[in-house]
Amino acid sequence: MSKASASNRSANVSGVTDRFANSALLRALRQEPGDGVPVWFMRQAGRSLPEYKTVRGQGTILNAIQDPERAAEITMQPIRRYGVDAAILFSDIVTPVFAVGFGIDITPGVGPTCERPFASASDLDRLRPLDPDSDLGFQTETVELLVHELEVPLIGFAGGPFTLASYLIEGKPSRDYAKVKALMMSDPRLWHQLCDRIADLAIGTLTNQVRAGASVVQLFDSWAGALRPEHYREYVLTHSTKILSAMADLGVPRIHFGINTGELLPQIAAAGAEAIGVDWRTPLGDARQRTGGRVALQGNLDPALVLAPWSVLEQEVHRVLADNAGHPGHIFNLGHGVLPQTNPDQLKRIVDLVHAVGSADGQTKGTSS
Ligand code: CP3
Repeated sequence: MSKASASNRSANVSGVTDRFANSALLRALRQEPGDGVPVWFMRQAGRSLPEYKTVRGQGTILNAIQDPERAAEITMQPIRRYGVDAAILFSDIVTPVFAVGFGIDITPGVGPTCERPFASASDLDRLRPLDPDSDLGFQTETVELLVHELEVPLIGFAGGPFTLASYLIEGKPSRDYAKVKALMMSDPRLWHQLCDRIADLAIGTLTNQVRAGASVVQLFDSWAGALRPEHYREYVLTHSTKILSAMADLGVPRIHFGINTGELLPQIAAAGAEAIGVDWRTPLGDARQRTGGRVALQGNLDPALVLAPWSVLEQEVHRVLADNAGHPGHIFNLGHGVLPQTNPDQLKRIVDLVHAVGSADGQTKGTSS
């Protein structure tokens, strides 16, 4: 179990009980029965929504992220359309790296790119500590706008050590992580120094989001599943643990996610989060066994199957719920982000179905949307 005690987990950073402490999401994170199955989708905001394309504007996504009114509006769009049980801040995992001036951009259709990738000890200076006031004012303002308006908890997030290091070292998305693994194995000292800087940036941005009003945090170490368990333990775990313990000190519940992590689940659970994101390759029952039932689980519908006819998709939703077998610590989600070509009506039907089944199971859900 995590270091945080049950009592400080429902109190936010200022010691005030979070007004969402009894929401379906926070109850599931505490593995408490009785509130139906909460549902939200990774990448629920963004390119699958026509209303996103309308307000997204020209320029890179980083411009939209730095415009609080626009970023708040984009965050709200999926809440209005789907009736999901959580909002996730419209931002990106590279935002803090961008904010300290490392030199990173998001190239449309490609992903994060750096002109001068991280290659040697001298590049550590390009990852100076975050100063929330001068570097993250736009983020504070966006979160403040949102918590004023939201009736569901806001999830703040950051990128995990392996995933962010992969973009910084490769300079672009990678299939094999060859440069990342080469640096990790040939110069472990530099690797750990880099991850320590990344962890400090993650703590800086997450702390800022929580202080401004986020109720939950998610650490996206999306690509950590590229490592074997021994290497994950040796090269990543201490850094993720450092980030997550800093969040425990703030009293905020934590979700830790990566894809292809079936073999890493025990290690990931050891990093200390209340919930682990599971992709579609590992049935929830197996994931629960591998994590000893100590953590709540988030997932795990295959995002590609959201494109299937409703008759197929409906069966898949039922199967995910059946795999969870009524365990109270379940947050329904996809096993990875919403694909851009997704029909939003299918996501709406999933939300309605999960809410209806949760209620029918006798888990008294106050409102079903
Ligand atoms: O709704 C939400 O989930 C919140 C928004 C969000 C974005 N990025 C916005 C975005 C979140 C949570 C992220 C996290 C993120 N970014 C991750 C972790 C989640 C995952 O997918 O595993 C990663 C690996 C990134 C890096 C990144 N940023 C990629 C791979 C891309 C896609 C590039 C492309 O164009 O195909 C981005 C860009 C990005 N981030 C977009 C959005 C909506 C699309 C670009 C745009 O609208 O201009």
